[in-house]
This record gives sequence, C-alpha cells and structure tokens, in this order.
Amino acid sequence: MSPRPPLEPLPGWNGAIPLDREADGRWLVDLDPLIDPILCWSGKASARPMGGLPLQRAEIVPASQLGRIARRALGPDRQDRVEWFEHAENWRNRLISGDSLPVMEALLRHERMAGAVQAVYMDPPYGIKYDANFQQRVDRTRNDSDQTSDDVLTIKAFRDTWVLGIHSYLSYLQERLYLARELLAASGSIFVQSGDRNVHLVRNVMDEVFGARNFVAIIPFRKKTMPLGARHLDGMVDFLVWYAKDLESLKYHQLYLEQDIQGEFHWKAYDTPAGQTCRMTPEQQGDHRLLPPGARPFRLVSMKAPGYSAGNDFAIEIDGTRYPPPRGGSWITGSEGIARLKAAGRLALDGKTVAFKLFLDDFPLAKLTNLWSDTVGAFDKAYVVQTSEEVVRRCLLMSTDPGDLVLDPTCGSGTTALCAERWGRRWIACDTSRVAIHVARRRLLGASFEPFLLLGPTPADGFTLKTIERRTLRTIAGGLEPERIALVDRPTVKKGVLRVAGPFEIAAVGRYAEADWHASVQTEDGLENYIEVLCRLYAPDARIEVFGLVHAVFETAAGLAALSVGPLAGQVTASQVEDAVQDARTLGISELHLLGWAFEANLGATLDRLAAKAGDPPMAVRLVAIRPDALARGLKPGTGDRLFAPQGNPEATLENLPDGKLQVRLHGLTLPDRHGTETVTHAIDSGYIAAWYLDEAFDGDCFVDSQIFLDLSRAPNLKALLKVDIDPEEYRLQACSRPFEPPQSHRVAVRVTDVHGNESSVVLPVPG
Ligand SMILES: C[S@@+](CC[C@H](N)C(=O)[O-])C[C@H]1O[C@@H](n2cnc3c(N)ncnc32)[C@H](O)[C@@H]1O
Repeated sequence: MSPRPPLEPLPGWNGAIPLDREADGRWLVDLDPLIDPILCWSGKASARPMGGLPLQRAEIVPASQLGRIARRALGPDRQDRVEWFEHAENWRNRLISGDSLPVMEALLRHERMAGAVQAVYMDPPYGIKYDANFQQRVDRTRNDSDQTSDDVLTIKAFRDTWVLGIHSYLSYLQERLYLARELLAASGSIFVQSGDRNVHLVRNVMDEVFGARNFVAIIPFRKKTMPLGARHLDGMVDFLVWYAKDLESLKYHQLYLEQDIQGEFHWKAYDTPAGQTCRMTPEQQGDHRLLPPGARPFRLVSMKAPGYSAGNDFAIEIDGTRYPPPRGGSWITGSEGIARLKAAGRLALDGKTVAFKLFLDDFPLAKLTNLWSDTVGAFDKAYVVQTSEEVVRRCLLMSTDPGDLVLDPTCGSGTTALCAERWGRRWIACDTSRVAIHVARRRLLGASFEPFLLLGPTPADGFTLKTIERRTLRTIAGGLEPERIALVDRPTVKKGVLRVAGPFEIAAVGRYAEADWHASVQTEDGLENYIEVLCRLYAPDARIEVFGLVHAVFETAAGLAALSVGPLAGQVTASQVEDAVQDARTLGISELHLLGWAFEANLGATLDRLAAKAGDPPMAVRLVAIRPDALARGLKPGTGDRLFAPQGNPEATLENLPDGKLQVRLHGLTLPDRHGTETVTHAIDSGYIAAWYLDEAFDGDCFVDSQIFLDLSRAPNLKALLKVDIDPEEYRLQACSRPFEPPQSHRVAVRVTDVHGNESSVVLPVPG
C-alpha cells in the first residue's frame, strides 16, 4: 500500500489565511470596531502565512484489541456477536499526532474538509501553565517535576510557558479558532472548554472570530465534588463557551434530565387517587417518598395569554363563582379549550384567578439548561487533565446527529473520540503529545460501548430512539394526542452483543513528504532558519557549522559531538544516517546526535552495520525524536518539559514454528543511557514498554496493526455479556506474538511504544 498522494491545494489558498480582516481591511465577521469592544494584545495579527504540509497516514488500526480478544474466544461461528459501527464511503476515523495548527491547515487545504465538521470540541491548555496540560508518562496521571530517577533516558529541554504570557496564548487560540471556523458546517457548533481565569478572554476572542451574534451559551459545569481547600472561594466549575458557525442554521437537539424537583417550591401540592387535593408538608416537599401511595404532585401554571385576544376574554365558572382573566389580559385558550381543561380536571384556583394544573407525570423530564451542576470530574482518569465524558456527551448530542463529523484539535486522552465513537459520530482527534496519542489509542482499543440499534446500515441512518409522551395545556385544551418527544440520548440497545471501537487511522503531519532542509520557520524573532532553530533548542551552545549532513557541533562531557537535523517534512532515512556518520568522521568527531520528527523503520540495523564496519573508528550515534510541538510559536524555553526524546531500537526475533507458522518474540527496547556511552535494554516487563504492535505482512510503507499487545486496564465482563471465558493473560502485555502464516511480503514489522509515548520500529525479513 503506498501513502495517499496529497491532494493539490485548494484554489484560492494563496499561502495566506486571513485572520480577523479581509485583504481590503473589512472585518470577517459582522463587527464594527467603532462600536463593538475588541480585545487587543501584543502580537495580534490579521493574517498569517498558511502552512502547506499534508497529513500522512502512519498506521492503520483495523480492529479494537478488545474486539479481537472477544472474537478469538467466541470462535468463528459466533463472531457476529462482536460489532462496530461502519460509516458510509469507507470513512475511517483519525487520530493525528501533531500540532493542531498544521493539522487543521492540512484538513482544509489537502483533505478539502472546509464545511465538513459538524462540531468542534476543544479543550486547549487553559493559558496558565502550558505544561500543566499534558502528561509526562502513559502509566501515571501525576506529573513529577523531578523524574530523573525513572527517566534517566529522556533528554530534557525546555518550554513550560508562553513567551508573552497571555498574549501568546491569545494568538495561539485565535489562529486555531479561525481554522476551526473554516472547517465547520453552516449548522455547526464549537465548544471551547476553559477555566475561570481566562474564560472572559476566550469569549472575547470568539466574539471576534465567530461574531457576537453567533454566541449560543456559556455553560458552567461542575468539575469536582469536593472543594480542595482554596484560600478564598473554592472553584468547583469549568466553563464551556459555545458558538454557532451561524446561529440561524444551528443544529440543536434538546436534551432532558430526570426531573429532580424534590424540595422545589413550585411543586407544593398533590392529588390523591380519590381526587382529593392536598398541600404537601415541608417534609413531603423535600422527599416525595413520604407522599401517600398513588399521589400525583402538581404545580399551578398561569393561563394568562402573553398578548390580548378579545375572543378569549371571558369569565370561567368554578363551583358557581365566575373568574375573569387576570387584570387587563385574556386566557391563553378559547372557551372550547377551557371546557376541555375543565372536563379533564385541569383547572384549579390560584388565589383569585384560575390556573392550569400541570402534573409531574405529564412529562417527568426536565429540559437541560446551561447550568450543569450535576456533572462530576472524570472517573478513573487515564490522563491528568481528562474531561468527564458526560460533559462532552451533552455537547455532542445537542449539536450533532449520528454519522456527523466531530473534531477535537487538542484531544488529550481522547475523551471526545471515545464519546463520538460511543454515539456513532465520525471523529478526528489530534494532540501534540505522544503520551496523549498513546493514551487515547489505548482507551479506544479497550473500550466497549452499548450496541445501539441502527435504522439502516450506517449510523447516519439514525438510531431507533425511545420516545416519551408529553401532555401540555396546548394538547389537552386542543383535544390532541400527547406530543411524542424523541430522546436523542436513549437509543434502543441490542442484547448479547459486544460493540467495540471501529477501525481508525493514526496519522501525522508531513511524513514521507519531500525532504526539505532549507525551510524557514516562524519564531518569535521572525522567520529563521529551521536547522539553526532546532540546533539551538537542542544544545543552546551549539556552533552552527554545516558540513554535509553535520549541521552543528557542541561540547558534551565526553568531548565534541556533531549534530545533524532531519528534514522538516520527512523521516530520517538510513542513507541520511550513513552520510551524517561519514561527515562527522571526516570532521574527526566520534559522537553524532541525529534529530528527527520521524524515523525510517529499520535504523537499528543500519546502526549495527555501521558499528560492525571494519576499519572505521567507533562512532556513537544517538537518534533523537523531536516533540511534535517543538516549533509551535508562542511557547518559550523554560524547564520541565521535553522537546526531545531518545529513539529506541526494538530487539525482536522471528521464530519458525514446527507447523510452518511464524512467531515474533520481543526481547526489549534498547536505548542509550543517560551519558550516551552505554546502551540499556528495557525488557518487556521492565515497566518501560507501554505497548507493542505487529504487522504480520509489512508492505514497506503503512504499518497495519495485525496484533496488539498492551495492558487493558478495565475489561468488561465478557462472561456475563457473551458467555465466554477469557484468559486474563489476554489483557496483558506479553513478549511473544501469536503464531501467524508467513507473509507474501516477506517481511514483518514490530513497533514499540515506550512510557513517554515515543515509538520505534524494526522490520524483520522473512526468509524464503
Ligand atoms: C486540557 S488537555 C485536553 C484533555 C482532554 N479533554 C481529555 O479529556 O483528555 C489539553 C491537550 O492539548 C494538547 N495540546 C497543547 N497544545 C497543542 C497543540 N498546539 N496542538 C495539539 N494539541 C495541543 C496537550 O498536549 C494536552 O493533551
């Protein structure tokens, strides 16, 4: 399989994306700078160059790990009891490793997705401390400032906050919001999650980007149940700021909650089964279980019409007394309607006027409003800043239909992807952190969902929804059947079926594209040479000295080392390694650090070959992976974060089994030690390897997960659901693959992820 060729850029994208103003100075949204307040900040731009890198598929995950385990246990005859949603046109959901800015640009420019996204859920860093927003290890939701003990191999580099503080943050947000706006459909919604410190600024920027008239709501939602003992007032909520692309065309579904009216002063009376009306005691008002059996709580609703109608201005007779409409008004319905209400026992005296008697059981649900005091923080967190799925669920169900596309540009542990998968929405999720991408993938691979009944072959055909009757003054007075309200969050669930995540792709920005070492990158100081910027980030004292593929030299404890930087939009290849080694040798240097965004699968073999080459002086080569947001603007060098991580080398062997099948054994991951002088091999059970994947028939390009090995922390009870026994070992990370047939491609590939989310691969040739 060859990588998808990038599409031609869309006509009209001439390299610049307008931010707040068109070329002729007109504002993009309906905004009058003389009247409307506008936020100013340092570095605010009205246009910026549009990046041009395409997305490249790095991996295909054809089936969930849980699904594979269940299918194996069920055997071939009962495999139909494991299912997932398939979308029309072979759509595959996407988890993208990269900075949201080039990712969204690629979606617009190369994937032609302008107007394709129905909802954006964005939970960016809150603009306080950048590094408080992602996690250092895949297996721990706590970030330690000093992790040297278990992290001897990570090279620290430095950015934990924004160069210009809140000013950089606002530029970061504004640029991404404009791209999100382009991606949204006319009926689309964007939800931005923020904390109380900056929510006012977020709202201001969104007013500018989307237009104040497209504001839908601010939703404070409860994020924790216990106050943590703040010095002043404890903060219990975060906020969602919701804008429509165009409020007039907004897609909106009303959600309902079970009514919790206990103690509400409106419901202070009830009817007994014998038809007697009683007032509730204060105790009964607070706890309806204290009411007599069969009691029907009700409240009185005014029947005064909002306008005046002479035809409805008449007196209602109750027990011989005539009651005119409240002063200066008329009734909400005519005499016929009033007669029906009376016959149905729905009229009651409220002081000196007549009111409508609304029973609790007329519609036992309450409309969801913008006050979400009933949510709590995420349970069993897999990620330090994980959002509660319930919060995302409400947003997606209000603003999308099954089959719609949802985008989360800062997905963290993939809560939005997981929620979209659960509710049959298509999704694209992206994050700069490799830890986040790994955690999101693990959550998806181990997740199970309610098997909702579809109305057709794909989720876009819709779910069969539960409906509920609603009797209102209008239906009773009009002699109509009760309304039937479809509950979009109550689809019919099938029994005895396990639903798992559907196939998805893992992609990155710009891999495999043509090598380009001559690029300039935008930094705080303007356009700068790509290589110089990276050398400076890696070794602040490096001297730029370009000699072939050696780009700089710097001092280490052991002497002089050469630095070589991989291409901005490509992967580091074996020939680059060989050339750089040769160039370093020519300079008389015996240590080479090679930085790359991505590495060709088999570099370990190249390094071994170079090491074994007779006659050459020894050369210590360190492959170093660059963090995807290393060049994101606005972040300033500081301490405590990682921009670079050593690239490991998986140690795996292929074993021939007596029946002709093959099996792969993973011995560990080899990395240079802290000083770069020795190597250390981390075995499968060392805690350093988070997961590994096997492509049983590697085509030399796209890695397809044929077998997956990772710890699934919470597996559902398949015994109860599918009546199958699962060996607990199935859920564990293990060293040996399952047997498989020798592939026609004559090679298999192994990919290993370490606890920091870094990946490295090795290709094993299959003889024959
Ligand atoms: C608050 S967390 C999101 C948590 C997420 N809602 C969840 O439930 O796990 C913010 C995420 O944004 C990511 N991030 C920060 N800057 C980014 C960028 N420029 N592009 C993509 N992701 C980014 C961080 O790595 C972090 O995982």
